[in-house]
Amino acid sequence: MLRTVQATRYVTPLREGGSLPAIVEADDLGLYVVKFRGAGQGPLALVAELIAGEIGRALGLNVPELVFIEVDGGLGRNDPDYEIRQLLQASTGRNLALDYLPGSTMFDPAARDKAPADLASMAVWFDAFVTNIDRTASNPNLLLWHKALYFIDHGAALYFHHNWQSLDQMTESAFPAVRKHLLLPWASRIEQADAEAKRKLNEQVFVEILDQVPDAWLTANGEDGGADARRSGYLRFLTGRLAASASFTEEALRARSELV
Ligand SMILES: Nc1ncnc2c1ncn2[C@@H]1O[C@H](COP(=O)(O)OP(=O)(O)OP(=O)(O)O)[C@@H](O)[C@H]1O
Ligand SMILES: [Mg+2]
Repeated sequence: MLRTVQATRYVTPLREGGSLPAIVEADDLGLYVVKFRGAGQGPLALVAELIAGEIGRALGLNVPELVFIEVDGGLGRNDPDYEIRQLLQASTGRNLALDYLPGSTMFDPAARDKAPADLASMAVWFDAFVTNIDRTASNPNLLLWHKALYFIDHGAALYFHHNWQSLDQMTESAFPAVRKHLLLPWASRIEQADAEAKRKLNEQVFVEILDQVPDAWLTANGEDGGADARRSGYLRFLTGRLAASASFTEEALRARSELV
């Protein structure tokens, strides 16, 4: 279950992040990277961040702890930057945050960073499963911290939810974008990852994750049917995609054979 903390101090924006995430201190004295509900990407980016992040965790990948963070009208009220004040105002209430990993660096193959085969294979499987295109050389979203790899930034995953008509098609998608995956060169055990993922994921795991997504984030675009109808849609996608994993597993194997 995700904890909830209260934001107490706006520390600094992370300018490299397109959605203007920020480092924020909370009432437990921890530092967090906050993904704001009011950012241009909209609340569905937070939905994807939560669902995909927790699926990654269920697969045994390191994902920084995710928490809900409450933002009140006082946070950053006197910040000199108009854009930041606007963003904070549009984000009062509940937002999503990740544990901040101080001193982490971005994974960089050009600097001879390497990944273990099992980990790389599971990462490739995971990103293909949640249709995450943001794990490339130009946009790694992979942090090295105390010699371990941490997976961040899943806000663009599950992109069928921007067009629900595409749900069935995306459930079956082979996900050809996997050929650009940063860890594909090390992913020599994709079939083993597929078998392991099928042992670790199931409907129950998905339901427990989906139950934690706030109703307001699911219905922010005024979708009819309400939050539970949305949850059923995600569940249909996730269970269907798990059953159809052979399709994207084969595609990943094929893409890798062209690479190495
Ligand atoms: N938990 C964390 N610990 C340390 N640094 C982090 C953490 N999360 C994010 N960062 C840093 O902040 C940057 C922006 O975060 P993130 O990629 O999640 O934001 P975004 O707005 O979704 O970015 P993008 O521009 O890639 O869409 C990251 O590239 C990374 O350098
Ligand atoms: Mg990013």
